[in-house]
This record gives sequence, C-alpha cells and structure tokens, in this order.
Amino acid sequence: MFIYAAGAPIFHEGESGTCAYLIERGQIEISKRVDGTSQVLAVLGPGELFGEMAPIDGERRSATARALSEAEVIPISRTQLEGKIDDADPLVRLLLRLILNRLRSTQRGASLLDGPIARPKDLAYETARARAIEQIQMGRALQEAIDHRQFELFYQPVVSCDGGQDTAGLEALLRWHRPEWGLLQPADFIPLAEETGLIVPIGLWVIETACRALVKFQKQFARRFPNAPPLFMCVNVSARQLCELAEVDRMVQMIERSDADPAHIKLEITEGMLLQYPEAAAAGLRKLKGTGVTLAVDDFGTGYSSLSYLHRFQFDTLKVDSSFVSSMLYNDDSLHIVRAITSLARELKMDVIAEGVEDNRELQRLRELRCGYAQGFLFSRPVPESQILERLRSTVTPRPTRRPTRRPTQQRPVQRKATLGGR
Ligand code: C2E
Ligand code: CMP
Ligand code: CA
Ligand code: CA
Repeated sequence: MFIYAAGAPIFHEGESGTCAYLIERGQIEISKRVDGTSQVLAVLGPGELFGEMAPIDGERRSATARALSEAEVIPISRTQLEGKIDDADPLVRLLLRLILNRLRSTQRGASLLDGPIARPKDLAYETARARAIEQIQMGRALQEAIDHRQFELFYQPVVSCDGGQDTAGLEALLRWHRPEWGLLQPADFIPLAEETGLIVPIGLWVIETACRALVKFQKQFARRFPNAPPLFMCVNVSARQLCELAEVDRMVQMIERSDADPAHIKLEITEGMLLQYPEAAAAGLRKLKGTGVTLAVDDFGTGYSSLSYLHRFQFDTLKVDSSFVSSMLYNDDSLHIVRAITSLARELKMDVIAEGVEDNRELQRLRELRCGYAQGFLFSRPVPESQILERLRSTVTPRPTRRPTRRPTQQRPVQRKATLGGR
C-alpha cells in the first residue's frame, strides 16, 4: 500500500511502468499533454484501477497520474498481471492486445511526442495472435471431428496382480483420426478440447461409446471365460464436464440409458483437476455416483490432495501415477510413495491400480506391495476395439502353440507376457 500527499505525482507520461494501481482512498487525476498543454482525461476514485496499460504491453506510460487529495493505492505488479493474463483464454488475450494496440495508436495520433520503447516487433501480440488463431482453427477442427465421427476409443487392459493375473477391466482412451494428420494422441488435442469446452460433447460421446463397448466386451468375455468376474470399464472424465450440472445430468442419463451395469463403470478424474475445481467436482461426482458407478482418482500422488478429499468424494479406486511406478525400482522415494499409497488404499478399503507398468520386475514389486491391479505396456498397449478380444485372450489364457493360421490376423505379434496367465 502506498500513500501519496495531495498534488504528488504517482508517475509521469512517457516513463516506463511496472505496475498498475488500485485506488483505496482519495482521488487520482489522469492527465496528458496535448499540443503543449496538460489535458485532464479522468479523475478516478476508490475502487478504480489505473496504470494498467504500460505493465501489460511494455510501452511507456500513456498519461500522468497525480493524487488530487491524499490517496492510498495498492500496487499490482506486472508479474501478477502477466500471470493472470497468461491464464486467460487465448482469444481473450488476443483481444486485450488488440484493444490496447488500437488505443495506443489512437493516442499516438493525438500526440506524437513519445514513440514506443525500442522493441524488435510486438512479439507478445504476435504470440497471442498465433495462439488464438491455433485455438480457433483447432476448435473448428474438433467440432468437425465430432460432426464427422473422427474419434475412436482404444482400450487398454487392466490386469489383476494377485491370483491369476487376469484381465479385470479396460481403460477407454481417446484417439482422433484427423484428416491429413493421421492418428492423434490425447496430448495433441485434449488440452485444447478442454480450453474450448468441446471436451463436454466429446466426453459425452466417450461415455456412450465406452458403455456400449463394455456390454459387448463383457458378453464376449463371459462366453469365453464363464468363471471370470465381469470386466469393468474405466472412462476418463474432465472436470470441465462436471462444471455445469446440466452436463452432469446428461452424463447421468447417458449412463442410465445405456445397457451397461453402472457398477462396472469406473469414472476417472485426475487429482490435478480435483484440486483445480473442488466445488464443481464435488457436486458433479456426487450426482454421478448416485447412478451406481465407481470413481477413481487418476494420476494419484502428483497433486498433494488432502486425505479428506478421498473421503469427501467417496472414491473407490486410486490410480498410482506412472511416474512413481516407472522409477520405483531405482528411486527409494518413489517406492515409498507407492508403498504409502497401497497401504493407504487398504486402510480406506479402496482399490489400487498401478499405471505405466512396463517391466516384469515392476510387477513383481507391485505384488509384494499387495497392489491389486496393474496396467501398462507390459500387458498391452491401448488397442482398437477390433483387437481387444485378442488381447484379453492372450492375457487370460496360456497362449496356444501357434500353427499356421487359416485366416491372416491384422494384429501385431503379441509380446510374450511372461507373468500373465502363463504359469
Ligand atoms: P491417463 O488417463 O493417465 O491414461 C494413461 C496413459 O498412459 C495413456 O496415454 C496410455 O496410453 C499411457 N500408458 C499406458 N500404459 C503405459 C506404459 O506402460 N508406459 C507408458 N509410457 N505409457 C503408458 P494416452 O492414451 O496418450 O492418454 C493420455 C491422457 O489423455 C490420459 O492419461 C487421460 O488423462 C487423457 N485422456 C485419454 N482419453 C481421454 C478421454 O476420453 N477423456 C478425457 N477427458 N481425457 C482422456
Ligand atoms: P498507463 O499507460 O500504464 O499509465 C497511464 C494510465 O492512465 C494508463 O495506463 C491508464 O490506466 C490511464 N489512462 C490512459 N488514458 C486514459 C483515458 N483516456 N481515460 C482514463 N484513463 C486513462
Ligand atoms: Ca485415466
Ligand atoms: Ca493416469
């Protein structure tokens, strides 16, 4: 908080400026020199903001600010402003830059006294523009992807670590056949789908498709392995899908209308999202849980969520983040974390799925830690629906000795899964 005596300048036109100010008390006069004389542009009072232009665009102060009466102001640093602006939607960022640039050029038209501080090009504006254009184009492409059914779900087996190490469930993972681009992974488009809100209709399609697939896979699976418990299906849900209760209602209806038994559907939400949107997540997850689905915290261990979250959201499953699993054999900290998570889950009567298991020794260690389920390339990569039965078969039964097959399979040769079903 700064206090200025009546008449004291806060900054002068043409200076560089690193903060904006919020007026707490008193009055601030904003003035500008036009044709050699000082013109008052505004008199601002408590609750009003000034000095925001220079810290946002890095140019000089467009006007002079002076206290008219004794005044108290709270500075807002450029770093604070930049943080907020960087978090904003790219289009909003672009609009902000655009409006500021236009205002600046209008002001320059009125007074050509001060040029911009020498800078190569308006890099910030160009960056904002490129980002916003990418967002607009990608948003449109995603919309087309929804309309033209370019999405596909791949499925990755989740195996049970104890006992027979059979396939217990599957995780549905989204892929996008983008024309002229090929098959895109979620990392290439989910962040943007979240930013644009298109994850909401996409997510609804994912639930519908995964439910339908679950019914189909369960039938095939039960026919082949009559004694095995029914498969479950893990479906990723973004917090954006939970933010509006009308959208949650649509998901609820989708689940209720499907032929799938909700008890075999596991909705996964990342720990990071839970922390980011605790209120929306709480309300939405409670409603979804009412359908009878189970809930999993994805990427658990990365977000420092408090234990009360687990209780409050009534989670059934913790998914240990793959970063701990992949490093636990040589990093004691990771091993301690995996051990802590598995025992915490036991205490809370929750299931644990370890993600990203690529190595047999990792599976061995997970078994020692009494981790219930595992998922990873060791068992199978995510595969399209057409290949999933093959994967289930190969993880559940000892592989038959191969004879020349009558019909060619399009499938890649399955890697021998040393510990699965074999012994
Ligand atoms: P996730 O939910 O943590 O999914 C696991 C990711 O790890 C998948 O990446 C999977 O292919 C990969 N993975 C599985 N086993 C291994 C392994 O042994 N080693 C390594 N290195 N990776 C393994 P994918 O399919 O690229 O998905 C990335 C993320 O995108 C997912 O992370 C999930 O957060 C998100 N996602 C995928 N599908 C959907 C969806 O339908 N909706 C939403 N909202 N998010 C989705
Ligand atoms: P900045 O350019 O950083 O420093 C001078 C400040 O005066 C500017 O930010 C705005 O906050 C404010 N300002 C500039 N032009 C006007 C105007 N026409 N009316 C009111 N305030 C202005
Ligand atoms: Ca997941
Ligand atoms: Ca995960």
